[in-house]
Amino acid sequence: MRHAPQTVLVTGGAGFIGSAVCRHLVGTGNYRVINLDKLTYAGNLTSLRDLEGNPNYAFRHADICDTDTVRRILADGKVELIMHLAAESHVDRSIDGPMAFVTSNVVGTASLLSAALDHWRSLGEEARKRFGFHHVSTDEVFGDLAFESGVFTEESPYKPSSPYSASKAASDHFVRAWHETYGLPVVLSNCSNNYGPYHFPEKLIPLVIANALDEQPLPVYGKGANIRDWLFVEDHARALEAVMTRGRIGESYNIGGRSERTNLVVVETICALLDARRPRARGRSHLDLITYVTDRPGHDRRYAIDPTKSEQELGWRPLETFETGLAKTVDWYLENGWWWRPIREQRFDGSRQGLVGAT
Ligand code: NAD
Ligand code: TYD
Repeated sequence: MRHAPQTVLVTGGAGFIGSAVCRHLVGTGNYRVINLDKLTYAGNLTSLRDLEGNPNYAFRHADICDTDTVRRILADGKVELIMHLAAESHVDRSIDGPMAFVTSNVVGTASLLSAALDHWRSLGEEARKRFGFHHVSTDEVFGDLAFESGVFTEESPYKPSSPYSASKAASDHFVRAWHETYGLPVVLSNCSNNYGPYHFPEKLIPLVIANALDEQPLPVYGKGANIRDWLFVEDHARALEAVMTRGRIGESYNIGGRSERTNLVVVETICALLDARRPRARGRSHLDLITYVTDRPGHDRRYAIDPTKSEQELGWRPLETFETGLAKTVDWYLENGWWWRPIREQRFDGSRQGLVGAT
């Protein structure tokens, strides 16, 4: 994958990370992006309104499980490279309804691989050499780390805990199987928790910002001691372009921002940012809204990524620290209620908020 490809099929481009990827790739001027998305509850074309009418961007409404349609889109679009992000992505939803995760993440990835293989085989020699299938995965496939020690490297064993992470682990194995068995040129990346603009407000950071602005409780699972390793989504989008264009075929790359924080620290930092920007009445702090709720079953204690391989081989580095990225994110939610308020006003299931009592 040494040449910058012309036409990239991005699956899941209407989601949180996918929309950042579409904006980034089109913004470089080096790619024509075809965004293939089923538009589940998590897919939102308003996240891409900046790209509407751009000649280097097209949307195709399709399900990755529909192999024939995907095959047709690949052929008609003369696709030279695939970046696969489409997935069910919320752990709490996977606990309440695991089968949708098996369908989209496992069956969907295998269906997409089948279509990609047919397409790759149909290409001329030069195009076949340039083709690549980049599978976007998560650090959650590696499972639970102790609080005190250890980091995930590319060699860490797979040990997923939730139906979500198990389905992503299975999809990673299918991607490798298509490489080993059929020779499909693949590359994988496993990233830590992302945050930033256009993040669906069922995930911790956007949920806490939106609830705080609406004077609602800020639900912290258990004692808030669980640790996640946070990465600003635009830094991830740049990393994904690097993996797609410079990653070695058959390899995987861990991506992370060396920004471990307990959930409680994340929530407290958001409260401090909001106290400074949008003070509450009568001098109260947003901290008063923190509410401890029943823990998530099978809640992994800690994730931590060692991104040395991506840094050394791809020359990638995050541009944001957690503090600068979080401040940008809070500012974005303050300024872009047009995007997240309509989503909040629709009913969406899956958050544990409201389903659980205070501990
Ligand atoms: P998201 O839930 O915001 O978006 C997923 C998108 O995929 C949506 O637009 C949805 O409509 C689409 N989709 C779902 N099922 C589909 C199907 N069957 N066919 C076509 N489209 C379908 O997810 P996200 O947070 O942007 O995550 C994107 C990818 O990155 C996922 O594969 C996820 O596992 C991975 N990832 C996410 C994070 C994170 O912190 N969000 C971290 C590491 C890896
Ligand atoms: P989340 O944003 O759902 O991402 P993931 O489960 O993929 O890591 O959750 C991030 C962390 O925040 C996780 O440890 C669970 C916790 N959490 C809460 O404490 N309260 C909440 O309301 C949510 C949604 C998550």
